[in-house]
Amino acid sequence: MKKFLSYLLPVLLCIAMGWIASLLQTSALIEWYPTLNHSPLSPPAYIFPIAWAILYVLMGLSIGSLISRGDMSLVKLWLFQLLINFLWSITFFALRSPFAGLITILILDVAVLTYIIYAFARRALAAWLFIPYFLWLLFATYLSGYIYINNFDSTYNAYAQTAPATATKSITYTLPPLRYAHDALAPLMSSETIDYHYGKHLRGYIDNLNRLIVSTPYEGLTLDQLVVQSDGALFNNAAQVWNHTLFFDGLTPSQGEIPDGLEHAIVRDFGSVEEFRRQFTQAANSLFGSGWVWLVENDKGELSIITTTNADNPLRRGLNPLLTLDVWEHAYYIDHRNRRADFIEAWWGLVDWEQAERRMLHNQQ
Ligand SMILES: [Fe+2]
Repeated sequence: MKKFLSYLLPVLLCIAMGWIASLLQTSALIEWYPTLNHSPLSPPAYIFPIAWAILYVLMGLSIGSLISRGDMSLVKLWLFQLLINFLWSITFFALRSPFAGLITILILDVAVLTYIIYAFARRALAAWLFIPYFLWLLFATYLSGYIYINNFDSTYNAYAQTAPATATKSITYTLPPLRYAHDALAPLMSSETIDYHYGKHLRGYIDNLNRLIVSTPYEGLTLDQLVVQSDGALFNNAAQVWNHTLFFDGLTPSQGEIPDGLEHAIVRDFGSVEEFRRQFTQAANSLFGSGWVWLVENDKGELSIITTTNADNPLRRGLNPLLTLDVWEHAYYIDHRNRRADFIEAWWGLVDWEQAERRMLHNQQ
């Protein structure tokens, strides 16, 4: 009985700590985390709670295997790493600070590695039970580092120009109004998806943009100018506002036929509407990680399909976007979980072809 309790109590403690941590993470996981640029290697969001639940149990069994033999020598170190693990949830998610989160997880890596080394000297089983946790932490450290560098470090963007155009007065960027009701796209896109994707995620990018732009040389630039000229976190948020504005503007609850001018250009450059749709769908399904699929027009009026990763935007390549599909997981996880293909299929039924044609600069029809 004593032996059983020496396993059970640490496992229960881990589960309790993990449960409290998950409560602290809830709002950030829904509102903030899905709006960040993630590594292409980042697994779907539903993997995380499953992985953590397994790892917490293994973590408890590890110290239990030592306590059951009367060895209490690593209990303090074990409790320390559990505390740092909890602190990581607070810094990264509750405080929404990827930098503090990165520092915390680096400390956790060292603490867990130290535990494993000492545990091997006492009972190999205790060490082996910690190995999956350590490997997962190394992966999480990489993901955290990627998030920090690609969302909050202003030095990463290779496209950026150095001198912004001069602007005379500041602009407050606002949520662009939808041309349809939140529930008008159902059942192809639910009102809950619109509430989150438009009401929380897009609003989050706009709030970040308004906060980040203060006292920078970019104040007062239009969104188009910002997308072409800015870099780092400012670019990410400005481009995500631009991209989402086109995405939501390109949806309609009452889809009509493809207008003649656009259809003519699609048939000319893709062979047929079916072939265009096939190529676009394939590009959307095969885009790795977070990004966007675009129907774009070049300066000669020729149409093509391109994909961009994270927040990147065709304006930076001198192309005119007509239509875009958001394939960030946050665009479809409420309605379709991880099934991107289902989301793409539903989206085809919502495409506003007239809006796409209105954006053509070279309509030869
Ligand atoms: Fe999105």
